[in-house]
Amino acid sequence: MATPAPSSSREAWWKEGTAYQIYPASFKDSNGDGLGDIPGILSKVDHLKELGVDIVWVSPMFESPQIDMGYDISNYEAVHEPYGTLEDMQALIDACHARGMKIILDLVINHTSAEHAWFKESRSSLDNPKRDWYIWKPPRYAADGTRMPPTNWRSYFSGSTWEWDELTQEYYLHLFAKEMPDLNWENEETRHAIYNSAMRFWLERGVDGFRIDCVNMYSKRVDFQDAPIVDASVFEQPAWSEYANGPRMHEFLREMNLAVLDKYDTLTVGELPHTPDPQHVLKYVGAGDKQMSMVFQFDIVDIGQGASAKYRFTEWKLPQLKATVAKWQQFIEGTDGWTTAFCENHDQGRSVSRYASDAPEHREHSAKLLALMLTALTGTLFIYQGQEIGMINVPPSWSIDEDYQDIESVNFYHAAVKAAHENMAGDEDAIQREIDYIKRSIQILGRDNARTPMQWDASNKSAGFTDRTEGAWMRTHDLYPEINVAKQQGDPNSVLSFWKSMLRFRKSHADLFIYGNFRLYEPDNEQTFTFAKTTVPAGEAASGAGQAAVVVLNFTDEDQTVDLPSADETGTLRLVVGNYIDSAAADEVDKSAGSGRQRKLRSWEGRLYMSS
Ligand code: GLC
Ligand code: CA
Repeated sequence: MATPAPSSSREAWWKEGTAYQIYPASFKDSNGDGLGDIPGILSKVDHLKELGVDIVWVSPMFESPQIDMGYDISNYEAVHEPYGTLEDMQALIDACHARGMKIILDLVINHTSAEHAWFKESRSSLDNPKRDWYIWKPPRYAADGTRMPPTNWRSYFSGSTWEWDELTQEYYLHLFAKEMPDLNWENEETRHAIYNSAMRFWLERGVDGFRIDCVNMYSKRVDFQDAPIVDASVFEQPAWSEYANGPRMHEFLREMNLAVLDKYDTLTVGELPHTPDPQHVLKYVGAGDKQMSMVFQFDIVDIGQGASAKYRFTEWKLPQLKATVAKWQQFIEGTDGWTTAFCENHDQGRSVSRYASDAPEHREHSAKLLALMLTALTGTLFIYQGQEIGMINVPPSWSIDEDYQDIESVNFYHAAVKAAHENMAGDEDAIQREIDYIKRSIQILGRDNARTPMQWDASNKSAGFTDRTEGAWMRTHDLYPEINVAKQQGDPNSVLSFWKSMLRFRKSHADLFIYGNFRLYEPDNEQTFTFAKTTVPAGEAASGAGQAAVVVLNFTDEDQTVDLPSADETGTLRLVVGNYIDSAAADEVDKSAGSGRQRKLRSWEGRLYMSS
């Protein structure tokens, strides 16, 4: 076991801060063109401050042809014109700082846009000095002479990761869209150009760190071999075993710190898919090794995704969620590592719809239940725009072709429809069933769920997001008259008010909620989730003298009973927060009945107790 963190390490601002992710296209439009923009964000910084946000994370707002909503960057040192200017960004950085908030940007450096000047040079000839800045390979040939890509790797956005380039007669690698070529991190000159252009440029303008996109994909295995076949019906196979967590990954991150980050006081949070082993994750987030402040480990957001493809939804049960939360809470205990608490971002369905219930009679309790869970968890808390008002998934009636915008969902859908017609030819019923299933999977898990315009008010049919008569760039959620900021602002019982008070409550008991140890009760119970947080004893002598909080959550539509832990274990508990208006009164009734430890939780009811 690693040495416990020295108490001074608690002082890092990025541990106790609550972070809030903004998706620029969909947050707030200021100039009536239907697209969100930076002045729009500026006009809402006070909303964030009032909510209790300390760290604002802005998803890519850099110059980009927008094949993947800005994750395809053509110039790190410029702002996407419809979003604003460098001056607007400076104003936003300054506005956050003036309110005592930090601001971090997205660092997308696994790939650039094909429109980036570096790639244009790289593809221009075999002997261009930047040829080696991207990953170029000659073709393979099948026995009959057919040209084939160098490997069978499948792109995240369907099809091959290799694109043939006529001009120089080679393939280039793109883990995502073909318009998003992967940078060659093996080339030292490339790495330093990235550090300068994507990082220093913005750190010098005052940004406080980065959310690092695809952080474990820079170092690929360099033998470029085929990935194991898991789906024999197609050529392309999931290949993250070949390109994620490659041999030089940790070396690159150490170098990035030495070269750039060490010179500033930054937060770095890496996006870390495909990494199930806690010991491995600890390598990235251990304070001693200084690779990153923290990561988003993906298990919680992968729940329900298919094994062979993301959009093949698989039913799951509560013990899986509980075990996942427990695992990624406990893995840092007794180490100098740090973790995150989150369950939404711009790549995921809405949490109320995915993990709880978005039925009209349950969705507010559900949103508060999840808020109660998240705010009690150890680590830096990240919330995503709209989560604070309990926004939910788009309805099943939305059309993939007309209403969905995301390249990942749309490509997957079309590839799946094509495959169904090929593999099930003649069986119309089977084809229809398959298509319905894919649609349903995308409705639950699709990224567009998180990308609908932010619902500010009911002043117009775009939920106050834009004044444009034709509406926003993307369809507005049908339920905006019921779920919006203005409606919740004045209501002390709203989801928004609940989040506000929970964020303050969390900070006022930082030892318990932000730094505490996590204990799971009844891991196999499929209806309820009970966990305790305890303060970490400062030393052996103090052990047992700490404080405890117990959280009980009913993840069903029906009444459930739970047993609170005994007083021996957690001390005498008193109710502090509940997500029903009358949770306190109900708790009194429960207490006087039965053993005194038993509680009856109504549908999606959650309560939090503390030892006195
Ligand atoms: C990350 C981003 C996602 C994007 C991808 C490619 O996963 O979160 O939105 O599509 O990287 O940059
Ligand atoms: Ca705009």
